[in-house]
Amino acid sequence: MNDSFKNDVDEGLSKTNKMLSSKYFYDKKGDAIFVEIMNMPEYYLTDAELDIFKNQTQELINSLQLQQNTFFELVELGAGDGTKTKHLLKKLDDDGYDFEYVPIDISKNALHQLETTLHEELPKVKVTKKQGEYFKVLSSFKTTKAPKIVLFLGSTIGNLLDKNAKRFIRSLSDSLNTSDKVLLGVDLIKPVDVVLPAYNDKQGITKRFNLNILERINRELGGNFNLNTFDHIPEYTEDEGIAKSFLVSKIDQTVTIEALQKSFEFKQGEKIHTEISRKYNDTILNSILKDSQLKVITKLTDRKQYVADYILEKV
Ligand code: AVI
Repeated sequence: MNDSFKNDVDEGLSKTNKMLSSKYFYDKKGDAIFVEIMNMPEYYLTDAELDIFKNQTQELINSLQLQQNTFFELVELGAGDGTKTKHLLKKLDDDGYDFEYVPIDISKNALHQLETTLHEELPKVKVTKKQGEYFKVLSSFKTTKAPKIVLFLGSTIGNLLDKNAKRFIRSLSDSLNTSDKVLLGVDLIKPVDVVLPAYNDKQGITKRFNLNILERINRELGGNFNLNTFDHIPEYTEDEGIAKSFLVSKIDQTVTIEALQKSFEFKQGEKIHTEISRKYNDTILNSILKDSQLKVITKLTDRKQYVADYILEKV
């Protein structure tokens, strides 16, 4: 990781339009700040998807075409703490479905915690955790014949550029058997007065999240970024439907990164692009699915119609 981090930082900061990948937000500190984000009043995404899992659990089960007497695997990519999924697991367990829950996460620690809480809260649910990168784990799945439901929630797909989202969906589709399902949670395109505050909260939590990437460069690569000299600036227009986060240098400055034995110049007002959060509608989703064998069979939305859980089937 450290080597790819080092190379990506070097490449990203050497571009004319400087950029750093949002995948590097998620170290231990970043994970903790992201939990704070999910609990912020402005970050509507968490409650909206929870609303679907809490209040439309039966509809979810119907749309996934699950049958009590047929064993299936419920796989979750990037399971985190499983707050939303627990509502579905509980209902499946209460109603006597025959299934195994397979959370996949890169973080061993997150998986261990999830397994422990599930064991306490839903002791009858079979849990087989898999640690690693999604696709390494998923590609090993094709060999098993059991029907699969893959959950990919929380608008995580929105952090991928469209071309990468397409590639991701293609690989996901290739790793599934006919009739397997995917439950894909996305944020829907909506007005700027709802979306922008979610990425620009009053308490400055998202700002800390964004700045953590510079702190991480300081910590891991011996950088000397002065965090007080960068602002967090998010942008969003409903027309484009993509929230973008930038770090903007407040002054002309030179930053040195020891591990790279290099310095980088920043002009006052110069931006580092750190994240995209793509918002979706049916047309955009269908263009992402186009080259895959996944087709939309249902769409569930929360009460406010802020987010959607699309149910896809491999044909
Ligand atoms: C993880 N991901 C879906 C979040 C999002 O909304 O794009 C990450 C995030 N970035 C800033 N706030 C939240």
